[in-house]
Amino acid sequence: MKVAVYPGSFDPITKGHLDVIKRTAKLCDELIVAVAYNPNKNSLFDLEERMDMIENSIENIDNVKVDSFVGLLTDYVIKKNTTIIIKGLRAVTDFEYEFRMALMNKEICNDVETLFMMTSPEYSFISSSMVKEVAIFGGQVDIFVTDYVYEKLIKKIEKGGLR
Ligand code: PNS
Repeated sequence: MKVAVYPGSFDPITKGHLDVIKRTAKLCDELIVAVAYNPNKNSLFDLEERMDMIENSIENIDNVKVDSFVGLLTDYVIKKNTTIIIKGLRAVTDFEYEFRMALMNKEICNDVETLFMMTSPEYSFISSSMVKEVAIFGGQVDIFVTDYVYEKLIKKIEKGGLR
């Protein structure tokens, strides 16, 4: 059984992430979308909210599970009895950061392999941080996220007085 782990902050999940999830799910038996809990990182959404938005966006794809982890990604991957990390690659700008992370993970645990899924061109410029920034300043972001995520995002921004 080929299990792969797709880690990230998903703050919040975008259609770019969703594209990677749907395409990767076709290539493995089980895909675990693993939301990183990092108390030192200032996330807009808490862990439960981020997981809920992913659950809602994946529309019950049979072989996709949502989970969370804290600490080293490689430890989590091994705990899940796999060695496969999936990362999305949008543009050249992602490459250096992702390359360094893949090498570091390899250094930490040589068995673990990082595989890159190229994001479809229509999503190649979307990032969670850009979506949040545009939304906070009142721009239209409904095409970049699912309706459910859009609603949560707008509510969060209005409730937090961020707009
Ligand atoms: O969506 P992001 O924020 O680019 O995801 C980054 C993430 C969560 C995959 C990365 O920060 C991570 O793996 N964090 C876990 C801690 C860890 O293992 N760090 C060493 C990797 S270089």
